[in-house]
Amino acid sequence: MASDKKLTGAGLRGQVAGQTALCTVGTQGSGLNYRGYDVDDLADNCIFEEVAYLILKGRLPNQSELDGYQQKLSQLRTLPDALKQGLELIPASAHPMDVMRTGVSLLGNIEQENDFSEQEDHVDRILALLPAIVVYWYRFTRDGIQTSTDTNAETIGGHFLHMLHGEKPTQLHEQVMNVSLILYAEHEFNASTFNGRVAASTLTDIHSVITGAIGTLRGPLHGGANEAAMEMIEQWSSADEAEQAILEKLSKKELIMGFGHAVYKERDPRNAIIKKWSEKLANEVGDKTLYPVSVRCEEVMKREKGMFCNADFFHASAYNFMGIPTGLFTPIFVMSRVTGWAAHAFEQRANNRIIRPSAEYIGPEHRKVPPIQERA
Ligand code: COA
Repeated sequence: MASDKKLTGAGLRGQVAGQTALCTVGTQGSGLNYRGYDVDDLADNCIFEEVAYLILKGRLPNQSELDGYQQKLSQLRTLPDALKQGLELIPASAHPMDVMRTGVSLLGNIEQENDFSEQEDHVDRILALLPAIVVYWYRFTRDGIQTSTDTNAETIGGHFLHMLHGEKPTQLHEQVMNVSLILYAEHEFNASTFNGRVAASTLTDIHSVITGAIGTLRGPLHGGANEAAMEMIEQWSSADEAEQAILEKLSKKELIMGFGHAVYKERDPRNAIIKKWSEKLANEVGDKTLYPVSVRCEEVMKREKGMFCNADFFHASAYNFMGIPTGLFTPIFVMSRVTGWAAHAFEQRANNRIIRPSAEYIGPEHRKVPPIQERA
């Protein structure tokens, strides 16, 4: 790998900051598992709602529990009128991640979490509403329509695509969304989840936990990397052009978005899975550019820096092939990761001590306040 930096110090790298029963990253099985199940096993055999149930409620549902859960989530999809009005006030120029953040925050005013015994119901409501929050605003500001959130789609991924495109998605697209949402659902103490756990440790409400986590995920070093990767690869019209551009960026020590990881050092187990689906989609749409460009980027980064694609890189082309606008890439991450954030908040609440680390002080020596006329 590119770095042999010590796993201590800056960025709290490698330091254990708490306990979780939710997930392991880079230590067991194929490299990422949720409550003991490998993510590739889950992606091959489950729909996202099963994985959401596993993460939020502690075990995989049986068929009748899954049916009941899907039905419950479907019934929670209607946006409250006050939330629709709020979304209509947000300008078209806003970043969709800011719309997600504001949407959840506004929801917390309309449907307050008054008691932690209500926490699972609030999270199910947020999970059910997130696709509608962003798509309602997106279509209102782009197409001037008040999108119906009544799609009859069985899955959250299908519901999102149906609202966005105004028609039922193909089976392939709904399946890719399921896989994508499963891959993004949980990832131990990543930046947004840790932010959420710190918030939860103050015993604040669940909407504040999720709102803070969305703001943290938005950054290009975290969830925003799938959008940044798309903006990079769409500039190149051939694999050769991509190779030249990557070499030039590396010579200027620029970051290549969608590569590298703070914990994985050999590979990100999510990459091979989404890459396979991106290739299927490329064949479906007859792509001759984006997928070969992406593969070449992967080859050049491996050869030049010993670096590998993280989960975000092939998500960019996969989403693009399904006609999803780039600005909505990171909001899809939110629709999924909300399960991990919420489950971490539940864990924190169940065994809480306020998270309050210490800092190494590097400021001036102790001193007295001088009279104002003596100050420089
Ligand atoms: N492109 C080019 N160089 C990279 C790089 C990338 N994507 N990621 C890391 N490097 C370089 C670093 O600049 C560092 O170089 P240096 O030692 O000369 O300073 C070296 O590789 C080691 O970096 P490392 O310590 O492994 O990274 P980190 O743990 O500080 O950061 C990320 C991890 C993910 C934030 C970082 O790899 C990154 O910014 N990637 C791009 C954004 C991205 O895809 N984020 C999504 C993460 S899932």
